[in-house]
Amino acid sequence: MQHQRVLSGMRPTGRLHLGHYHGVLKNWVQMQHEYECFFAAVDWHALTTHYEDPSEIQQHVWDTVIDWLAAGINPGSATIFIQSRVPEHAELHLLLSMLTPLGWLERVPTYKEQQEKLKEKDLSTYGFLGYPLLQAADILVYKASQVPVGADQVPHVEMTREIARRFNHLYGREVGFEDRVAQALKKMGKKNAKLYSSLRKKFQEEGDESALDTARALVENQGNISLNDRDRLYGWLDGSGKVILPEPQALLTPVSKMPGLDGNKMSKSYGNAIEMREEPASVEKKIRTMQTDPARVRRTDPGEPEKCPVWGLHQIYSPDEVKDWVQKGCRSAGIGCLDCKQPVIDAVTRETGTFRERAREFEESPELVRNIVAEGCEKARDVARETMDDVRGAMGLSYR
Ligand code: TRP
Ligand code: SF4
Repeated sequence: MQHQRVLSGMRPTGRLHLGHYHGVLKNWVQMQHEYECFFAAVDWHALTTHYEDPSEIQQHVWDTVIDWLAAGINPGSATIFIQSRVPEHAELHLLLSMLTPLGWLERVPTYKEQQEKLKEKDLSTYGFLGYPLLQAADILVYKASQVPVGADQVPHVEMTREIARRFNHLYGREVGFEDRVAQALKKMGKKNAKLYSSLRKKFQEEGDESALDTARALVENQGNISLNDRDRLYGWLDGSGKVILPEPQALLTPVSKMPGLDGNKMSKSYGNAIEMREEPASVEKKIRTMQTDPARVRRTDPGEPEKCPVWGLHQIYSPDEVKDWVQKGCRSAGIGCLDCKQPVIDAVTRETGTFRERAREFEESPELVRNIVAEGCEKARDVARETMDDVRGAMGLSYR
């Protein structure tokens, strides 16, 4: 099995809400156990639309990171970092811009859509047009194999693949590949290197597939060689060489059914959100005052859950027995709307309680968050630097 690396990013827009948790973060938390994960607060992307008012970015970044930690992202398993602290993203963005046809950027559906949607802002900027290319750089600088995103972002990953293909086509295989292989072999130690070479020979000269498998396993088990060297050794085995920028796959995040307080998709801009770290009293108040089926004017009027936003929350939070109780009780007017809301209030406050609990130590000691991020940025930079060495070499820029 080849190494699988995940990269995803989120624009820091302030405190996250339950829609972010159920739509994105829950999925990230799951993935951190299955892949090597890098999660970025993409502050430069935030600037593409908020360049006029950068004063809040800093606070938004810390709030975002605390909410990731509150959701259960574990800095021991996943690398949490800030985009602008890894300047290699900017360098790759610049270099990729040399080979990116304008038409590719203009054709990305979000470009015109967002300009229409955010009419009050002047988004006829160079930075905004380049948004998906910056995203491509985010992904490619880590040679990520998987990119978890919502459906709206799939065209961006698709363009990233096209950019990678174009780059590899133009600049081909790695320069000095054979020398680098030799150096990687040295790092394996004499005995392993010898075994590797004889297995490679067996495969390449006699077509012995099992020798190939054994050699791959040998490479896989080397503790002290980098991921790049590992890829080189795989490529040397089967003769494929080393692709400089591998094409990533979009990992489609299932559409979140998390409704807001009014039944529409939960979103800060609709004013229908519950924050992950919302106070219990405020959660209770928001749910108690939620609109219900308008047909239930009096307690004795029967209602229809399908026409009620509270039902949407039951579908996320309630077990089958409770859902049964709601359906029967609502349609027969056997329960009142406040009765119906109580289990949702309980479940949401339990969930936000967990987040608040986990967030507390980070709120109390910002130093802790700074350290986690500093460490993440370092780890991210190490990988990004290696990629840039390859990229500069391929583009003829490694002279000294
Ligand atoms: N454009 C993404 C969004 O709005 C955020 C993002 C930036 C991203 N860079 C990324 C997502 C890299 C995945 C991978 O949601
Ligand atoms: Fe909505 Fe529940 Fe009231 Fe029915 S009983 S209208 S589902 S809140």
